[in-house]
Amino acid sequence: MHQHHRTETQRQESRLHERLEALGADTPARKEAQTIGSALLKGAADRLRTDKPGKNARDGYVTEHMEIASCELLERLANRAGDTETAEVARTNRAEEEEMARKIAADWDRGSRTSRQKRQE
Ligand SMILES: [Fe+2]
Repeated sequence: MHQHHRTETQRQESRLHERLEALGADTPARKEAQTIGSALLKGAADRLRTDKPGKNARDGYVTEHMEIASCELLERLANRAGDTETAEVARTNRAEEEEMARKIAADWDRGSRTSRQKRQE
């Protein structure tokens, strides 16, 4: 699940980077896309930083929702600027983030059970 999303994240960053190249300097959509690109890379690097599955799931869930919010903002900025290509990239990326958040949410029991078992060790 995480390796798949890591690959998705790299594709998302690549799609954003292509839009950065296409956008002019100092447009609101460009600044937002740049911020999201940096956040995506940081989020991927921070993932799985502990051996506590429950905490990792919680942090991952929060990260995915931060990414969803960022994509939502970018899509709206791009739409206001008439930049349909960047809006489409934001929509595509957001759909992947929403899917990852759903996968984490479907797996809460495994994360919490494993954390409890680890405390008993
Ligand atoms: Fe993500």
